[in-house]
Amino acid sequence: MKMIRMTNMIAQRRVSRLSGGLPGGLRVGAAVLALAGGCTVGTSFDPGEIQFEPERPETEAPDDPAPYMGDDALVLEAQSNFRTGIELHQKVIWRTCTPNGGVCHNSKEFPDLRTPANFVNAFGASCNVQYGEYQSVYDRCERPGDRFRIAGGGVNTGQIEIGWIESIPGEYYDGEGLPPEDSPGLHIHLADPIAGEQTEVYTNGEFQRTFINDGKVEDFTFAEYTTLWSILPGRKHLIGEVRDFQLDQVQSLLSVGVVEGDANRNDVFGARQDDPVHLLEPGSPETSYLIARLRGTMAGEDIPGSRMPLANSPFTIPEMLALFCLVEGFPDQGTEADLNRGIDYANCSYSDDPAGLNLLGEGVTWSARISKILEFNCGGCHGGDSPQAGLNLVGDDVYLRLLEPSTQVPDLPLITPGVPEESYLYLKLIGDDAITGNPMPYNPLTGEGTLGEAEIADILTWITNGAVENE
Ligand code: HEC
Repeated sequence: MKMIRMTNMIAQRRVSRLSGGLPGGLRVGAAVLALAGGCTVGTSFDPGEIQFEPERPETEAPDDPAPYMGDDALVLEAQSNFRTGIELHQKVIWRTCTPNGGVCHNSKEFPDLRTPANFVNAFGASCNVQYGEYQSVYDRCERPGDRFRIAGGGVNTGQIEIGWIESIPGEYYDGEGLPPEDSPGLHIHLADPIAGEQTEVYTNGEFQRTFINDGKVEDFTFAEYTTLWSILPGRKHLIGEVRDFQLDQVQSLLSVGVVEGDANRNDVFGARQDDPVHLLEPGSPETSYLIARLRGTMAGEDIPGSRMPLANSPFTIPEMLALFCLVEGFPDQGTEADLNRGIDYANCSYSDDPAGLNLLGEGVTWSARISKILEFNCGGCHGGDSPQAGLNLVGDDVYLRLLEPSTQVPDLPLITPGVPEESYLYLKLIGDDAITGNPMPYNPLTGEGTLGEAEIADILTWITNGAVENE
């Protein structure tokens, strides 16, 4: 009856490579870095030997690059506020991770970047977002999936890459013929069809993964599940029966964290297409997933999921510049010591046009985004001949009206460019204590106001970046 077997050795590898309290991507990536880079810390010496020359402390920063000597005010501001990666981490990255409303805590899609060590580990780490909503996984974050194999009961599938796996709870199907495709059970969606004609087999299913251990590539069966497997038409979708006595086994199988090649279930196996991307890519801010999530796009393509940082202040241009220049200049196998080094603004390619890093350039514009959010979510009440509170949010003159004082709290304009906390419309959206009346958008049925995190984050980004009308 023992159907999930895991030898000690494999379990240990799994622990070091895959598990832990942090989102898996960061862990796996960190381990890969460590393996790929060899040992970077400490030297080996015979403990019986006396060391005459004390070792230099490991954390000492390498030499700083020459400073930027140009006259671009944005670069100079970045250089004086964020001289090193550590300073950027303390002042900016950490802010997006603070416990209250920080993205690292209210959304499982992002790794916990609160410590400099975690921040460094984000370089080269996979951006699999397996703990969030599956729809918000970006194709280029998908990794090669684990493989599944049935060999027994007259079926031999060979190893086939797993697209995604899902357990649907409920009574197992007891009717005639094959179970319907949404019936309860352990669903496995494969990349390629299973050969042959047989549609049912009671046997052992094996889950296999390739490990890289000391430079050697090894295949392991890391879990097994014996049950009645139904192979649905198309032969890429299997349902494994789950009876009450098997629930524990299925749970432990799922808690192993099967790597899914098509984690977002859109039939694209990302790792087989474009180059996979990482959380942060040394040398390449444009293909760093974390930066793409700040901007909402990567290489002109929309990134699924809401824009970061959700509940926190969006990045200003000098902050973006510091991050871009840090990532561009970060060495391939960089360590924490590289965070202590001065950011090389002088040689950073983005220092030529820092204004180009303005998030407004990434679609958070008045005409493309903000006016539409207002029209769509607010226009029902704030539109037409007699808009609520005399505020019309639909039509041509909306922008100019927003710069004028609110009627409820005339000390505050509806929008103060650059200053969200002095923008009454924004305060209404977040239900700030300073408002009169209800938070917006007002729902007369429940008396509550709600707008998605993504919309609120974009309005915040737009105001912070100057709330310009035309761009
Ligand atoms: C269901 C109707 C309804 C919807 C939808 C609605 N509002 Fe309102 N809004 C009102 C009412 C009623 C008032 C006046 C009473 C109050 O503030 O509670 C008001 C007042 C306001 C005020 C204060 C105006 C001033 O000049 O002081 C602002 C700002 C505002 N709404 C913004 C919005 C925004 C932005 C949205 C969309 C995200 C929105 N509202 C959606 C009904 C609505």
